[in-house]
Amino acid sequence: MAGYVVVGSQWGDEGKGKIVDVLGKKMDMVVRFQGGNNAGHTVIVNGEKSILHLLPSGILNKEALCVIGPGVVIDPFVLLDEIDTLRKRGLTCDHLRISDRAHLIMPYHIKLDELQEKKLANNKIGTTKRGIGPCYADKYTRIGLRVCDLVDFEIFKKRLASTLEIKNDQIVKLYGEEPFDYDTLVNQFANIREQLLPMICDSVSLVNQYLDEGKNVLFEGAQANMLDINYGTYPYVTSSSPTSAGVCEGAGVAPQKLNTIIGVVKAYSTRVGEGPFATELLDETGEEIRSIGAEFGATTGRPRRCGWLDLCVVKQAAIINGLTDLVVTKIDVLSTMKKIKVCVGYDIDGKEYTYIPASLNDYGRSKPIYKEFDGWMCDITKIRNYDDLPENCRKYLECIAEFTNTRISLVSVGPDRENNIIINEL
Ligand code: GDP
Ligand code: IMO
Ligand code: MG
Repeated sequence: MAGYVVVGSQWGDEGKGKIVDVLGKKMDMVVRFQGGNNAGHTVIVNGEKSILHLLPSGILNKEALCVIGPGVVIDPFVLLDEIDTLRKRGLTCDHLRISDRAHLIMPYHIKLDELQEKKLANNKIGTTKRGIGPCYADKYTRIGLRVCDLVDFEIFKKRLASTLEIKNDQIVKLYGEEPFDYDTLVNQFANIREQLLPMICDSVSLVNQYLDEGKNVLFEGAQANMLDINYGTYPYVTSSSPTSAGVCEGAGVAPQKLNTIIGVVKAYSTRVGEGPFATELLDETGEEIRSIGAEFGATTGRPRRCGWLDLCVVKQAAIINGLTDLVVTKIDVLSTMKKIKVCVGYDIDGKEYTYIPASLNDYGRSKPIYKEFDGWMCDITKIRNYDDLPENCRKYLECIAEFTNTRISLVSVGPDRENNIIINEL
């Protein structure tokens, strides 16, 4: 039995998609367990780029069954679009299954996401406006619609009628906007329902069967620890648990079935959307990282905020997720930097912290305590053996492993499938 988990250890966009694809060769199944199409996971194969939002990043490998698990929120229109885009490229999605328990992102969720952000004005979260928060909110207030409701369309219609009354009340009375029309919504779903039915299954039995048969199953996280609803920089977070514990909840798998828990760490930090970011660089160094690292959102195209690596953030992810291995990505982006800094603590009013305080008032005014490294100032993208890396680069990596007390098993030195230095076989 081998359950592999890939999670983000910072604010997302660490390169999880690439790593899932790299490990995909040995996987029998790839499972998404939380989030929705707020994710944007880039996979580059032979120079051809795919950005996956809802489809697991293993979808490009026909040999692995791909599952969208119960903890995911599914916008069915986006899902069908993504499938269609791949079909047009001659790729099939016949190996895709979706959980009957997953919740549906409805058109009114997207509208409510936009309206709440507008209402929050200066306090906005900077969401991807994909309806993620409103959909999870309905799930927890128990008025959500689920994939299984599409199987018996009469149930779907009945549940929609009662939920829509509440949603339209919010839209009309709270925001003064036009209500959603029941018949139009029913027709929209009637049109796509048949295409979804063959993919719907009890994914919990399927995933556990694979694990019990000793097959390799990879659980693909979206977002990251600092965007976690419990442990991130609340309220500037997403609405799910992108952690290894989220796998148990969101895929219906027991913790002892997860053997290898891989945290993906970008060699510097980025963040999209609002919220505090202690090591953010608002100067030309930040610009340089953005430009060399092509740091623009894979989902919304927004420029990503850039800064130095924050090891307190990564350490928190190591503890909360129980990381067994780190994968460090995009270290090639730092190859032109004369000096490189990493944050090893925070100074808040003269007191030193090594963890992220819950209060954003404290975290927001924390001053990073940096350790400085000399850069290596040479191209490393063609290096494939750890020992061939420049000494300064190895020192940087060793500091990451030591501070987080977690071994580094792979170093990614470029976006392509092949640009990797394998230290420990995963
Ligand atoms: P994800 O959301 O964690 O899957 O990450 P994204 O796909 O949103 O962003 C990561 C970006 O970095 C993508 O454009 C990748 O192609 C790219 N990338 C991944 N690994 C590396 C690497 O080691 N070096 C460089 N230069 N780019 C990388
Ligand atoms: P991947 O999987 C980076 C951010 C948004 C916003 C906050 C809440 O590609 O790493 P939401 O739409 O989820 O309600 O937005 O979370 N966010 C991400 N940032 N990578 C992502 O996914 C993200 N998904 C959501 O920018 O700040
Ligand atoms: Mg991304």
